[in-house]
Amino acid sequence: QENVPEKIDYVYKVVVIGDSAVGKTQILSRFTKNEFCFDSKSTIGVEFQTRTVTIKNKLVKAQIWDTAGQERYRAVTSAYYRGALGAMLVYDITKRQTFDHVARWLEELRAHADSSIVIMLIGNKADIVDHRAVPTEDAVEFAEDQGLFFAETSALSGDNVDKAFFKLLEEIH
Ligand code: GTP
Repeated sequence: QENVPEKIDYVYKVVVIGDSAVGKTQILSRFTKNEFCFDSKSTIGVEFQTRTVTIKNKLVKAQIWDTAGQERYRAVTSAYYRGALGAMLVYDITKRQTFDHVARWLEELRAHADSSIVIMLIGNKADIVDHRAVPTEDAVEFAEDQGLFFAETSALSGDNVDKAFFKLLEEIH
């Protein structure tokens, strides 16, 4: 592919947060590389990936930061959230506990991120229909209460992943 210089209009920093093993890293690689890995390793520290997309005729570079869900691997919180315009708060629809912890992640977001940050609640692993532990309605209600956008995704099948990111980026825009 030819390396055409692009004129980026905006760079949007987005952070992905949520408990360990909910699929944060895989959602990110689905969005940025259209890839999925079954034996994904736990993230240590912080990584980021980018994808450039067109939003309302503007070239937007989404710079998406991924950190460890596990406390012991987490990087400095304030630096992670600094400058973030959007957040994907991810839980696993097959693990109730990861949904119950969403309130804690919201507290952290509200303590460290800018108050205008756009937040999208993501119920991931929607492909595992037989082991659903969080009804969609519970999440819809919670999201409405808290003023969050909401989507269920599957990083495995790719369902809704692009749609969720585009929605978040459009709302930031
Ligand atoms: P930490 O880095 O520890 O915070 O975990 P993480 O949230 O980044 O999870 P990761 O992306 O590493 O995924 C954890 C496991 O879930 C891996 O085995 C993935 O293959 C699997 N997984 C992720 N997304 C999906 C999904 O949409 N469907 C299914 N079936 N499995 C998924």
